[in-house]
Amino acid sequence: MKNTVWIPGGHGMLGSRLSALAAADVDVITTTRADVDVADRAAVLAFAQRRRPTLILNCTAYTAVDKAESEPALATAGNADAPAWLGEAARAVGARALHVSTDYVFDGSGSRPLREDDATGPVSAYGRSKRQGEERFLDATSGQGLVVRTSWLYGPGGKNFVLTMLKLMAEREQLKVVADQRGRPTSTSTLAQRLWLLAALDATGIVHVADATGPQGISWHDFAVAIHAGASARGLPLQAKSIEAIATSAYPTPAVRPAWSVLDCSRCETLTGPLPSWTTTLEAFLDLQKL
Ligand SMILES: NC(=O)c1ccc[n+]([C@@H]2O[C@H](COP(=O)([O-])OP(=O)(O)OC[C@H]3O[C@@H](n4cnc5c(N)ncnc54)[C@H](OP(=O)(O)O)[C@@H]3O)[C@@H](O)[C@H]2O)c1
Repeated sequence: MKNTVWIPGGHGMLGSRLSALAAADVDVITTTRADVDVADRAAVLAFAQRRRPTLILNCTAYTAVDKAESEPALATAGNADAPAWLGEAARAVGARALHVSTDYVFDGSGSRPLREDDATGPVSAYGRSKRQGEERFLDATSGQGLVVRTSWLYGPGGKNFVLTMLKLMAEREQLKVVADQRGRPTSTSTLAQRLWLLAALDATGIVHVADATGPQGISWHDFAVAIHAGASARGLPLQAKSIEAIATSAYPTPAVRPAWSVLDCSRCETLTGPLPSWTTTLEAFLDLQKL
C-alpha cells in the first residue's frame, strides 16, 4: 500500500517545492486554507480521520513577520494552535509528523552557531508564536514529532529576499542592505529534500536545516552582493551599481530581527549527509531566473 502524505500549506513557497520533490511511490495530498483551515482544531482532526495520512508535513505558517506585531492573536492561531492540532491529529491516526520552524525563535545574542538545545528567547511576536508552536507540537505528538528549524528561506513562488533583491536591483541604481544581522540562507530545494529524508527516519525533537556557510554565517549585505554578482553574470536586468552596507538601526522595522541566528546544522548532517553550500544553491536558483 502507498504511503499517504498530507502537506497542509502545499501551495506555499516551501509546500509547493516539497510536493514537487515527492517520490513517485507516495500519495501526496496538498491542502490550502480553503480546503482545511489548520487553525480550526475540529477541521484538522476530521480531515485526518477521513484521509488517514501516514505522514504529515506541516508547511503552513503565519509568515508576516512585521504584521504579527499588530495582530499577535492571528500569529498565535497560525503558528502555535495549528501545529498543536496537526500534532494531535497525527497522534490520533498514528502518522509521523514534521513541523517547520524558524531561526527567529532565538534572541540574536549569540556568537557561535546555535544548536538545537541552545536557549531560545524570541524577540518578536512572530518568533514567540513560532516558539510556542514548537513546544505545543512536540507536546501534542508526545515527543514523537520532529521540529525542523530553518532560516532565511527562499525559492520560486514566494515572497523572499532573493526575489525582492532581484526586483529592486532591476529598478534602482542604489540599494542599502543591513550588514549587522548574520544567518544562513536556505533554498526551498535544500529544505524540501532534507524534509523527505528526515521524514523517513525516526528522529524526534528538533533539527536545524540550512544551506552551508562558514561558522560566522553571512550578512544580508553579503547575500545581496552575491545575488548581484550572480544576476550580473547571467545577464539579468540590473540597474543597481552599488549596494551600501547599513546598520539595522538605519532600517527600522516593526518587528525586531535577531542579529545572530547562524544555525548549527551538524545534527542534520549526521542524519542525512553534508548540506550544500549557500553559493551553490543560490547559483542554481539564479539559473532558473534567466529561463
Ligand atoms: N520564509 C522564510 O524566510 C522562513 C524562514 C524560516 C522559517 N520559515 C518557515 O518555513 C515554513 C514555510 O514558509 P513559507 O515561506 O513557505 O511560507 P508561505 O509561502 O507563506 O506559505 C505558508 C502557507 O501556509 C498557508 N496557511 C497559513 N495559515 C493557514 C491556515 N490557517 N490554514 C491553512 N493554510 C494556512 C498559507 O496560505 P494563505 O496564502 O492562504 O495564507 C500559505 O500557503 C513556515 O513554517 C515558516 O515559518 C520561513
